[in-house]
Amino acid sequence: ELRGTLYDRIGPEALRSLLERFYARVAETPELAEVFPGSRDSSLWATTLEKQFAFMSGFLGGPPLYHQRYGNPMLRARHLPFAVTPDRAHTWLACMQAALQATPEIDHDTAAELYMALSRVAQHMVNSSES
Ligand code: HEM
Repeated sequence: ELRGTLYDRIGPEALRSLLERFYARVAETPELAEVFPGSRDSSLWATTLEKQFAFMSGFLGGPPLYHQRYGNPMLRARHLPFAVTPDRAHTWLACMQAALQATPEIDHDTAAELYMALSRVAQHMVNSSES
């Protein structure tokens, strides 16, 4: 890849803007928001965003902040307490698609690559067949 890692192409500032837009959308989508701790205490959205920022930093080829702060992500295991249904995975990805479209700092090709990578992870997180 001539233009480097997705992290190099996006950068920490645009990544943070993307995730702010993403969790704002998640928070206003009740059937998805209800599984997040922020739905019970809205101050917890900030923690959720920080963890996701740390994870994505490493996932996109940048500094492995999640590993440094919290250890091995074991993402599927960490999602087991939450009912990730196919509908919720689909809605998670729709929120991400909308957040990408609202983040012009991320060019279209980069956004498409990021979306494809996240679709695979989201499918892997499905752990429940009913809401
Ligand atoms: C944590 C839901 C997909 C990465 C969480 C939490 C929930 C959740 C409820 C707990 C938040 C908290 O404790 O503050 C979902 C749902 C998904 C999904 C419904 C739909 C498929 C993904 C994907 C990724 C991801 C695709 C990665 C690209 C993370 C990370 C954490 C997390 C890094 C923090 C884990 C921890 O340290 O506890 N997710 N998630 N999630 N999620 Fe997801």
